[in-house]
Amino acid sequence: MAVKGTDKKSTMLQVLLSLVSCLLTWIPVSANNAGSYTVSVYQPRMVNNMSSFVSRKEAVALMSRHIDEYELQAEEAARRKSQILIFPEYCLYADIENFTRDSVANFLETIPDPEVNFPWTPCDLENTTDDITIQRKFSCMAKKNKLYIVANVGERETCNQTLDSRCPDDGRYQFNTNVVYASNGTLVSRYRKKHLFGEPYFNEPAVAEHKVFETPFGRFASITCFDIYYEDTLNDLIHYKNVRNIIFPNMWFSLPPLFISVPYHASVAWMANINLISANLILDLPSKVSPLTGGSGFYSGTSGFSYSSNPDLLTINMTSINPDAPSNYAVVPKRVTPAQGNQKIINYLVGNMDINSIQLEGKAGNISVCHGNFCCGLEYEFTPQPHPSVAYWLGATDYADGSRQYDAQACSLCTVVLSKMVCESIPADPNVKFAQFKRIRMFANEFKTTFVYPQVTLMNNRSYQVLNPNVYYNRGEIKLLKTSPLHSMTLLGRIYPPHVSSTSRVVIPRVLVIGMLVLSLL
Ligand SMILES: *[C@@H]1O[C@H](CO)[C@@H](O)[C@H](O)[C@H]1NC(C)=O
Ligand SMILES: *[C@@H]1O[C@H](CO)[C@@H](O)[C@H](O)[C@H]1NC(C)=O
Ligand SMILES: *[C@@H]1O[C@H](CO)[C@@H](O)[C@H](O)[C@H]1NC(C)=O
Ligand SMILES: *[C@@H]1O[C@H](CO)[C@@H](O)[C@H](O)[C@H]1NC(C)=O
Ligand SMILES: *[C@@H]1O[C@H](CO)[C@@H](O)[C@H](O)[C@H]1NC(C)=O
Ligand SMILES: *[C@@H]1O[C@H](CO)[C@@H](O)[C@H](O)[C@H]1NC(C)=O
Ligand SMILES: *[C@@H]1O[C@H](CO)[C@@H](O)[C@H](O)[C@H]1NC(C)=O
Ligand SMILES: *[C@@H]1O[C@H](CO)[C@@H](O)[C@H](O)[C@H]1NC(C)=O
Repeated sequence: MAVKGTDKKSTMLQVLLSLVSCLLTWIPVSANNAGSYTVSVYQPRMVNNMSSFVSRKEAVALMSRHIDEYELQAEEAARRKSQILIFPEYCLYADIENFTRDSVANFLETIPDPEVNFPWTPCDLENTTDDITIQRKFSCMAKKNKLYIVANVGERETCNQTLDSRCPDDGRYQFNTNVVYASNGTLVSRYRKKHLFGEPYFNEPAVAEHKVFETPFGRFASITCFDIYYEDTLNDLIHYKNVRNIIFPNMWFSLPPLFISVPYHASVAWMANINLISANLILDLPSKVSPLTGGSGFYSGTSGFSYSSNPDLLTINMTSINPDAPSNYAVVPKRVTPAQGNQKIINYLVGNMDINSIQLEGKAGNISVCHGNFCCGLEYEFTPQPHPSVAYWLGATDYADGSRQYDAQACSLCTVVLSKMVCESIPADPNVKFAQFKRIRMFANEFKTTFVYPQVTLMNNRSYQVLNPNVYYNRGEIKLLKTSPLHSMTLLGRIYPPHVSSTSRVVIPRVLVIGMLVLSLL
């Protein structure tokens, strides 16, 4: 696998990443003889240090600098016989700080709806305006390299407040949009992100769009970053459009232990039984404490995964999943958790979600911790006892802020370096001495949802395994079948918002957005 990271100044993050080296491995768990296709994802490294207001000319120059780098990746992807190449969310301007509605405007372009104006092939247009310069570049990149290109771009659409009550005051919609160009340069999909995450300069479409596109190698759709947390953008799309290949450009800030990119994305592919193709980026924020981004990969239902945390072009032969295959969601039975002991409760925040946790003690135990009436139970046995520099925390949360947008119940077991007192992310501090568990059984007393996403990350010689034959999962219960070193383990029960009609607007509480922006995922 070619490593094409750009050489930038050394940061803590880079040190961590280089120590983990190449994490790319394909772990097939069960055989499947359906068709397959070759797919590539490019994970760039970007440095967020540019001033915020630039002219259209400067904006095009900044974006073109990234596209020049992506052009080389497209050529390499073509050499590897890829049929489709995906770039992450914010692949053109994640390096700009402090966007406002006006300052982002120069990065946006007017993009026709391919369901109305088809075929639109900007690469073939003779007289193009400056308004579609970027579209033209991606269209030509697809045509020249004869592969499908998926890119995340900024979109503008003018509107008239007299005719459209949703039209913003400045007379234009601004969208976070995925475009898909077919291998002849024709635009075949335009998808507008529905669930923005602290992006006040963009608008959300009135309802979740389900934009599928057919290719000679299967039926696809795309969703963007935080869309993966919602039923209308994830589950409804899969169900109503019968699509099993979901392309997922994202700029994911890992938030351990519940929302680390790789294990969380793998758990969604597993439960929804889809091929999830995740393109993330590595974002350095020199002026701030760098949140841990990175972690792109390919997740194929229960049958395998492959990912990397390095800046890299990743390529794989992905096995298709039968569109009639059912999901793996299941009703979770009630279980009896041990009585909560009198251990000290450690309370910490994951974004705005507060977690009650207790530290595992001794060599073995049957313990529980509660958050309100929701309790998480754990039966465990170490072999031998953990190194004195690390501890394991069992946490429980039953999160609801009243908006009904973010609700979740979760149990999690994570590794904590005692000098830092936070759950380790991926990649972890290279000095962590992960403990071996001989036995683990994790479960909750009662989930209010059938949408439970299990995440188990085991260590295998300094690389992470998120789908492992030594893990048993059944209806809200996780067990280890073999003694293994453990990074973290989570049961995330997602309580989806009630379906809202397209006319009512959902107001996201400001405090939550700001709190989660600092720490969380986009
Ligand atoms: C931002 O960082 C890049 C890479 O370190 C550097 O080349 C560039 O000059 C920096 N730009 C600014 C405005 O500081
Ligand atoms: C972004 O905003 C912060 C806070 O207002 C400010 O400190 C910083 O200098 C701004 N960055 C740029 C590049 O304008
Ligand atoms: C492109 O512009 C030239 C000069 O303005 C004009 O003669 C020609 O018809 C245009 N071509 C198309 C396809 O619009
Ligand atoms: C908006 O629509 C109204 C009614 O059709 C029209 O009179 C007005 O000129 C339009 N405004 C703009 C800015 O196009
Ligand atoms: C390009 O390919 C797409 C998808 O196969 C097809 O629908 C479209 O008509 C083609 N465009 C042109 C200009 O031939
Ligand atoms: C995909 O499969 C083809 C045919 O078996 C093989 O030549 C190619 O090397 C594979 N590509 C990857 C990235 O594994
Ligand atoms: C914990 O529970 C398991 C299963 O119920 C039981 O076999 C084991 O002896 C218990 N261990 C401890 C330390 O209480
Ligand atoms: C573990 O990884 C290192 C570095 O990649 C390698 O040299 C070593 O052989 C591996 N050990 C095992 C048991 O796989």
